[in-house]
Amino acid sequence: MSEAPRDKERVTALGTLLPRIDDHSAVVGVVGLGYVGLPFAVEKAKVGFRVLGVEQNPERAAKVNHGENYIRDVNDNELRELVAKGMIRADTGFDGVAEMDVIVLCVPTPLTRNLPPELSYVEGVTEEIAKRLRPGQLVSLESTTYPGTTEELMLPILERSGLEADRDFYLVHSPERVDPGNKRYTTKNTTKVLGAVGPNSLEAGRAFYTQTIEQVVPLSSAKAAELVKVFENTFRAVNIALVNELALLCDRMDLNVWEVLEAAFTKPFGIMPFWPGPGVGGHCIPLDPHYLEWKAKGLNFNTHFIALAGEINRKMPEFVRDKAHRVLNELGLAPSRAKILALGVAYKKDSEDARESPAVEVIELLQRDGAEIVYHDPHVSALREGNLAMESQPLTSELVSSQDLVLILTDHSEIDYGWVASHAKHVLDTRNATKGVQEHRERITLL
Ligand SMILES: NC(=O)c1ccc[n+]([C@@H]2O[C@H](COP(=O)([O-])OP(=O)(O)OC[C@H]3O[C@@H](n4cnc5c(N)ncnc54)[C@H](O)[C@@H]3O)[C@@H](O)[C@H]2O)c1
Repeated sequence: MSEAPRDKERVTALGTLLPRIDDHSAVVGVVGLGYVGLPFAVEKAKVGFRVLGVEQNPERAAKVNHGENYIRDVNDNELRELVAKGMIRADTGFDGVAEMDVIVLCVPTPLTRNLPPELSYVEGVTEEIAKRLRPGQLVSLESTTYPGTTEELMLPILERSGLEADRDFYLVHSPERVDPGNKRYTTKNTTKVLGAVGPNSLEAGRAFYTQTIEQVVPLSSAKAAELVKVFENTFRAVNIALVNELALLCDRMDLNVWEVLEAAFTKPFGIMPFWPGPGVGGHCIPLDPHYLEWKAKGLNFNTHFIALAGEINRKMPEFVRDKAHRVLNELGLAPSRAKILALGVAYKKDSEDARESPAVEVIELLQRDGAEIVYHDPHVSALREGNLAMESQPLTSELVSSQDLVLILTDHSEIDYGWVASHAKHVLDTRNATKGVQEHRERITLL
């Protein structure tokens, strides 16, 4: 019986938003213009949406407004042209919220190990939006978070505005799945999942995301979509831990783990390639599974796989340090006086991101033992992580030949590993980056 007025209001609010989404006259707000937010803003502006960014870092906001790019996945010219055409603008405050039809949150959701998730960015931004919320707006959370955030944290804050979710405004969670640096899978051709707090929100979210994304998978709730994202990263963390454990075992068995895995992955079904390394890094794999672990603890449920994977992956930097010691000892060199070149410090291949990079811990451990470490990374000119404050050194033959050990920690594509092996006294390769190197194999030790 109460359906009639609700339907009417639904028609009014959705009826204004949907045509604006369809004809791209809707104004899209993007809060947080980082690795996720800036490429997202460019993607939407490219198809004709006017984008208003909110970025609390004034330097970043100014850069955007000058058309200057600072994110690798964004094309410099595209950003410059879109800004010049007035399609993208960035503010440091939230006054533009009233103008926005769609508001997408791409703010950080950091986590300190063993501590509860840090949701203050999401919470703070939601409060700012609530103060300015008007009927007909769609709010979407893209940040990775624990299941329940959209409904339990954001929804009550937004409803403090006096507006009702799914009737007056729409609220969805659609986790970003971007893989920075991946040329094959971009935002457009990576299927996106979508969960909402109600059917109208789902409809609004679907209308918005299908404008730029080929496949959108709707789920029954925002909570389910939140779990999808953390499960995906947990899947990676667990599988990486499995191959890392195999690497530790192969070391004891005097077997080449890379040979074993490559052979295993020739099976065309029932197996999927994952590779060992010096540990896990970045904003996702070391952190996101622990969101789920934390949430599960509150339900008196232990997520054993997550805990075990975290334990194994965290062991890897120490294992690399120990293996470096062994190699140096075999060469008759004291680890406490060794000169070591760390080659690559980003957490993964061809990335400039050194956040949570295992290279940081490996370098700190070796430094603590007395070794003198320099590094080269073509994508990371300065390393300011953990206790480190280092600058990348030019990769010259003098540098390589002057070191007791070259320790490959990231397998960036542009490095000529054959050239490195030909100038190095010895190489410890934690990524199998030297796979194609034929000569001087006797100078190379694999993880
Ligand atoms: N980087 C990735 O590969 C990736 C992939 C998928 C999902 N995610 C998730 O997406 C979210 C964002 O990650 P990111 O890597 O883009 O982070 P980032 O640190 O690169 O960018 C976040 C941006 O938000 C800005 N910001 C912080 N607080 C703000 C506020 N109150 N108002 C406006 N701007 C604010 C920061 O200054 C920064 O520029 C996280 O939840 C992350 O887990 C990241």
